[in-house]
Amino acid sequence: MTTTTRHHEPAADVAGRRVLTGDRPTGPLHLGHYFGTLQNRVRLQRQGAELFVVVADYQVITDRDVADRLTEHSEGLVADYLATGLDPDRATIFAHSAVPALNQLLLPFLSLVSVAELSRNPTVKDEIAHSRQSAVSGLMFTYPVHQAADILFCKAGLVPVGQDQLPHLEIARTVARRFNERYGEGIFPAPEALLSDAPLLLGTDGTKMSKSRGNAVPLAADEDETARLIRAARTDADRRITYDPAGRPGVAGLLLLAALCQGRAPEQIAEETGDGGAAALKRTVTEAVNEHLRPIRARRAELAADRSYLRDVLRTGAERANAVADATLAEVRVAMGSVGSV
Ligand code: TRP
Repeated sequence: MTTTTRHHEPAADVAGRRVLTGDRPTGPLHLGHYFGTLQNRVRLQRQGAELFVVVADYQVITDRDVADRLTEHSEGLVADYLATGLDPDRATIFAHSAVPALNQLLLPFLSLVSVAELSRNPTVKDEIAHSRQSAVSGLMFTYPVHQAADILFCKAGLVPVGQDQLPHLEIARTVARRFNERYGEGIFPAPEALLSDAPLLLGTDGTKMSKSRGNAVPLAADEDETARLIRAARTDADRRITYDPAGRPGVAGLLLLAALCQGRAPEQIAEETGDGGAAALKRTVTEAVNEHLRPIRARRAELAADRSYLRDVLRTGAERANAVADATLAEVRVAMGSVGSV
């Protein structure tokens, strides 16, 4: 589990700004999400940003034919969000499928981008390459525009993204700019990327931590499962533990994971482990992870046991998101002179 960069506080000028972010409900969130984005969202919330968080259920079927256990995964995402500190009274947490007006924005937005622009989008190309489908669907091809609708329906000014998502955000900016050029200045603000230099956690096999690669430690895993997953992590035969991200990525990743959990420097943990070897290091990491996550997991278990509460959170979020989306769609129809608007 390698972490290549360290956490930094984002710029503190986010108070009052609207932020949109989200996840596809394809399975439980893991430590990579937690250190990569979830902590950052909670920090933004604390700094006074207004968060919109989309459970991107319609986007599950971009790269697979059928969405598996959608309700379970969607409710699981909400449990992960709340357990890690999102406040449903302040953040609007909603599912795509519950906000029709958001989805309707896709139609005018599709008219603003060319097939050539979509074809050369590197993120789309990459996702097509990793798709589980035998043929690329029209939805996969156009989903950056759907993502633009996610961002623009609530006129979010800031979108926390990793480097790989920048081409998507560029499409959202293009859509906003062209809509304004064609139909009226100032309707859509161009969203800005909030680039996080949050750590990229590698999985237990040394490749990117990912639900689908089976190399992730889920937030909701129990302590024994966590121990088992960390014990199986790839390291090396050198008994002396040193922090050397380039030369010993497996060991360095474990050190960084413990460091993130304990708020300490990885070098210090390396020194304490000394000649104990990978086994001792893994015990330290397991303990650090389990200890750090214990209150989060306890809270998550309570939340997961109360499905009606999770559904309430989504329902309330959908009400708020619908009010915002209906207003934006009405504005769009007036700007375009649609018959339905008179
Ligand atoms: N596509 C993102 C993912 O797969 C989730 C997502 C949907 C998103 N809409 C978004 C992220 C808008 C940022 C902004 O993780």
